[in-house]
Amino acid sequence: MNLKGRDYIETQDFTVEELEYLLKLSAKLKDDFRKGRPTQLLPNQTAFLLFFDKSTRTRNAFEAGATQLGAHAHFLDSSATQISHGETAEDTGIILGSMGHGIAIRHDLIPGAGNSYMRQVAAATDVPVINMQCDIDHPTQTLADLLTIRETFGKNLRGRKIAVSWAYAPSYAKPLSVPQGLITLMTRFGLDVTLAMPPEFKLMDKCMEDARRNAAAAGTKFEVVDNMDDAFENADIVYPKSWGAFDLMCERLDLKTQDQLRKNEEECLKLNAKYKDWICDERRMKLAKKKAIYMHCLPADRGNEVTDAVIDGPQSVVFPEAENRLHTAKAIMAATMRERPFEKYDPRPKKKTAKAAKKAAKAVKAKAAKSAKKAKSAKKK
Ligand code: CP
Repeated sequence: MNLKGRDYIETQDFTVEELEYLLKLSAKLKDDFRKGRPTQLLPNQTAFLLFFDKSTRTRNAFEAGATQLGAHAHFLDSSATQISHGETAEDTGIILGSMGHGIAIRHDLIPGAGNSYMRQVAAATDVPVINMQCDIDHPTQTLADLLTIRETFGKNLRGRKIAVSWAYAPSYAKPLSVPQGLITLMTRFGLDVTLAMPPEFKLMDKCMEDARRNAAAAGTKFEVVDNMDDAFENADIVYPKSWGAFDLMCERLDLKTQDQLRKNEEECLKLNAKYKDWICDERRMKLAKKKAIYMHCLPADRGNEVTDAVIDGPQSVVFPEAENRLHTAKAIMAATMRERPFEKYDPRPKKKTAKAAKKAAKAVKAKAAKSAKKAKSAKKK
């Protein structure tokens, strides 16, 4: 299979066969890494890692992964680049693409902003754009999650249940992309998915629709409940984690100053605090199957999202899950990045023009703005 030059922005952009190829390559690279075999698949290539948000796992998976592939990764903090003075996504894409072989981006805290930014960069460059987490999906995380689940239960996951649940966190209003990425990906790979959240913590309509459509096509189940206990009941995998209140997160698109953003964050955390009892503890773990595993993308708010007894307990797979971020990041870079000249073996269909990407971004922004307006008027009432 040839995925050279392909952007990796949402798992929805890839077929099951293409994702299977990436999983197989991840497992191979993991084995090579464990056995100390060299994997110089991208000698002398350069990946630019552009971050609009903080990171521990993702940044280090890509930096270490690039080195292990014979490439080099540059870390770019967006606030230290000319993006903070208004340089456009297109210009940034053209410039970085002209100097290297891949651009990976994290832009995850504002619904309606990150995914469209990535698609604008992607439309402006011939090098692959890799999503290190946006407002819609966290596709390098969920691929690592799927690898971890298969390592535990085997390839055939049919009939097994994953509970994706909101959990309380006081640290910050976390992006929506992990639960959204999980419900869309896992429904395609044999798992029955139950999503649980309080009413204010809904996910994007697009992702809910994709999850429903994926489940119908794959013959799996996708159900939504309003409490954690119901979700955990009889689950094989529990994945409780926090995310920000949807309407408040959508308001961010219109906020201009740091002070406005700080106030929005405070409101988000106040709303989180309404649901302090949404914690993954030993009582709740007993609702799941005896051999159920506990997963979290990390960082976890210990004592709030999850008790120490659970995250450090025998059912937790969070550390192998985190290590798998390295192997999947490497597989995605190795599969999509390529040496010049590109023209000789570019298999991609014609890329969307920058104009089309801008139009798509405008539509996402309009939808988010509409939702924010609705939330504001509901608040006034
Ligand atoms: N899970 C994850 O994306 O971790 P980081 O935010 O540390 O990259």
